[in-house]
Amino acid sequence: MTTMASSRLCLLLLFFLCFILFINHPVKCDEEDTLLEGINSYRKSLNLTVLTKNDNAECFAEEVADQFKSQPCTNSTGSNTVPGTEPQIPNYESLLAKCHLNVSNTKDGYVMPACVPNLDPSLVLTNFTETQYSGELNDTKYTGAGIGSDGSWIVVVLTTNTPEGSFVTYNAASLTTKIGPVSRLLFLLMASFFLL
Ligand SMILES: *[C@@H]1O[C@H](CO)[C@@H](O)[C@H](O)[C@H]1NC(C)=O
Ligand SMILES: *[C@@H]1O[C@H](CO)[C@@H](O)[C@H](O)[C@H]1NC(C)=O
Ligand SMILES: *[C@@H]1O[C@H](CO)[C@@H](O)[C@H](O)[C@H]1NC(C)=O
Ligand SMILES: *[C@@H]1O[C@H](CO)[C@@H](O)[C@H](O)[C@H]1NC(C)=O
Ligand SMILES: *[C@@H]1O[C@H](CO)[C@@H](O)[C@H](O)[C@H]1NC(C)=O
Repeated sequence: MTTMASSRLCLLLLFFLCFILFINHPVKCDEEDTLLEGINSYRKSLNLTVLTKNDNAECFAEEVADQFKSQPCTNSTGSNTVPGTEPQIPNYESLLAKCHLNVSNTKDGYVMPACVPNLDPSLVLTNFTETQYSGELNDTKYTGAGIGSDGSWIVVVLTTNTPEGSFVTYNAASLTTKIGPVSRLLFLLMASFFLL
């Protein structure tokens, strides 16, 4: 093989590598990461532990945001809701099921939808830290969070470290999610072998 051909092969492999990594890590919305950082700064200022990212809660947050996306922001939606009159999330259990979750491992969690036009980052953060939601955000029982957004809606789902709030998926889901990293590792190994 000529050096020309082998360097082309290298490029091709690199391209595939990037492609695979890209597929496995879809680009995350900045708003979501920014909000988690903001919430964690808020918790640090109260001397509370930071919330770790929970991927299963994030899946559920995306599903909930998807349900709300067609509703416009008003002074009675999202964090403006009068406590006790929160709209029930329709088909809650089927949304959980989409993320391979059920009530048993999510009932201690807490779902907080907020509506902010254009998801303006400064308003998004204060819609959580300076509203009724602050009472949940400053609660020591929560240890993790997943954030999803769609349209003007951004949803934070808080998780606990108890089984009832862990957002651990049931068997079928944990199997499929384990295949991902393993096949990625295999591919990396194969690719690096070729590159040597
Ligand atoms: C957090 O801890 C620091 C150091 O222990 C203390 O000075 C500060 O007042 C605490 N803040 C709150 C909000 O409890
Ligand atoms: C919400 O908006 C409506 C109509 O714009 C207004 O009549 C009402 O007073 C507002 N409620 C609050 C709590 O601001
Ligand atoms: C929450 O977002 C709304 C936009 O929907 C904004 O008008 C309001 O000022 C925000 N509230 C806080 C406390 O940031
Ligand atoms: C948490 O927030 C609630 C509601 O804003 C407040 O009443 C409570 O004192 C706060 N607790 C702490 C530890 O900051
Ligand atoms: C939730 O899933 C667990 C594990 O599969 C199962 O044992 C439990 O009965 C399920 N609970 C509900 C309410 O479906």
